[in-house]
Amino acid sequence: MTSEKVVILDFGSQYTQLIARRVRELKVYSIILPCTAKQEEIEALKPAALIFSGGPSSIYETGAPSVESSLFDLGIPVLGICYGMHATVRVRGGDVTPGDEGGEYGRTKVRFDTSHPLFLNLKEESVVWMSHGDVCTGLPDGYRAVASSATCRCAAVTGEDGRFFGLQFHPEVTHTEQGTQILRNFLYGVCNVHGDWEMSSYIDTAVESIRRSVAGEKVVLGLSGGVDSSVAALLINRAIGEDLECIFVDNCFLRKGEADQVVSTFKDHFNVRLHHVDASQRFLDALSGVSDPEEKRRRIGHTFIDVFREVAEQLRGIRYLAQGTLYPDVIESTSAHGGPSATIKTHHNVGGLPEELGFELVEPLRDLFKDEVREIGRILGLPESIVNRHPFPGPGLAVRIPGLVILEDLEILREADAIVLEELRNAGQYERTSQVFAVLLPVKSVGVMGDARTYGRVIAVRAVVTEDFMTADWARLPYDLLAIISNRIINEVKGVNRVVYDISSKPPATIEWE
Ligand code: XMP
Repeated sequence: MTSEKVVILDFGSQYTQLIARRVRELKVYSIILPCTAKQEEIEALKPAALIFSGGPSSIYETGAPSVESSLFDLGIPVLGICYGMHATVRVRGGDVTPGDEGGEYGRTKVRFDTSHPLFLNLKEESVVWMSHGDVCTGLPDGYRAVASSATCRCAAVTGEDGRFFGLQFHPEVTHTEQGTQILRNFLYGVCNVHGDWEMSSYIDTAVESIRRSVAGEKVVLGLSGGVDSSVAALLINRAIGEDLECIFVDNCFLRKGEADQVVSTFKDHFNVRLHHVDASQRFLDALSGVSDPEEKRRRIGHTFIDVFREVAEQLRGIRYLAQGTLYPDVIESTSAHGGPSATIKTHHNVGGLPEELGFELVEPLRDLFKDEVREIGRILGLPESIVNRHPFPGPGLAVRIPGLVILEDLEILREADAIVLEELRNAGQYERTSQVFAVLLPVKSVGVMGDARTYGRVIAVRAVVTEDFMTADWARLPYDLLAIISNRIINEVKGVNRVVYDISSKPPATIEWE
């Protein structure tokens, strides 16, 4: 583990994780703690700096979180962003009041004092992203403004003998033109960090730490073929080789060629001990006669656990269960108003394996963001097709056939889905979209082929772009690409005579149809 760290105290901003990622992109390890974290916990981490995030509250609301004044006794630089600045100014004796014109929102021009260390090498004037109702109107003793906008005199302030920096705007957001340079100046110019957070060296430390923590015992991992479990498998395999046993369950709801790809990549290429279990019939039986989406998910989840448990028991002598839990699973941006215990959720992302399985957990990715996991995957030689894969839900194709699921329909959907993805890649659109797939609708429609009337199935194509999968917009795929996809599906997939394109955003629709 790297020695240099920045601790980010989360006051509930929607951008807190983004701050952490930006700091890491600048090669400094960052940790998010709730703003209620105890000072001893923060001190124990020996941070090189603190960052106070923004937050949804107004400093005057009852129950609004506050900054501990004693944090300024730690003697390390502190950057307060938006609410983080308001809370500091208030606790140090200044005034924060509602802005005259109802605050500033969106792109705003700001003038910087470029002689100040935070703004060295910046253009004197540039656009920043503002999102605030309150402003600092009276500064504590020893504080001064070092940037301003047309309506905000204190767009940036400094105080505490040059150890506190407050920004009214959000440097972490890409709309802030010089935001990265400001964060770089803070980390390298003010905090004097060296920048030792590199994925290549992280791999060595992670491998060492896995070896130490499992100490000769066996580990089992549910490999789904997705990027998280794949990277976890390769890291652990590098650490303990044959002591890692991977279980890959074919539930019959996988995409075309997926099982072969997993076996050839992991077993043949990386020499991972892989148990490929074809449990298709058990899953199909479990779904027999079931059409409710949540009941389908529940049964698939239970069947997965049963199959996994049986195989793991046959392997004998397993002490640890590895999971591909990521950092965003560990923290919650709502942490601002809960204590530390309310902020941590244990996330089982291998189809929901329960604690009763009786294993101890190994989570080698729990410090990492998704893009860092991808980078590790690349360094470890994982094929680009897995590293850059769109997400695929645990219940797979079963939730892309609304209602009852039977084998014949799964085969239709698998073929149609393979065409969608093949043409998407051919058109160079795979990297430009976040998730794209086919859905087999439970209706029939009339068509005409040759001179004959047909009565066939309907495929819906779903393509979305999204940052976080919480909201999503439908992808504006080129018409020519949609035409090729439609032609190929209707001509090549038996039983389908119509293809439609889903133009719903989330919300109000969801990405999946079930
Ligand atoms: P929705 O449909 O809720 O999907 O907009 C958001 C993201 O979650 C994925 N998803 C699932 N993933 N098990 C999973 O592992 C599930 O049951 C499940 N349902 C939805 C979906 O593919 C999208 O990426």
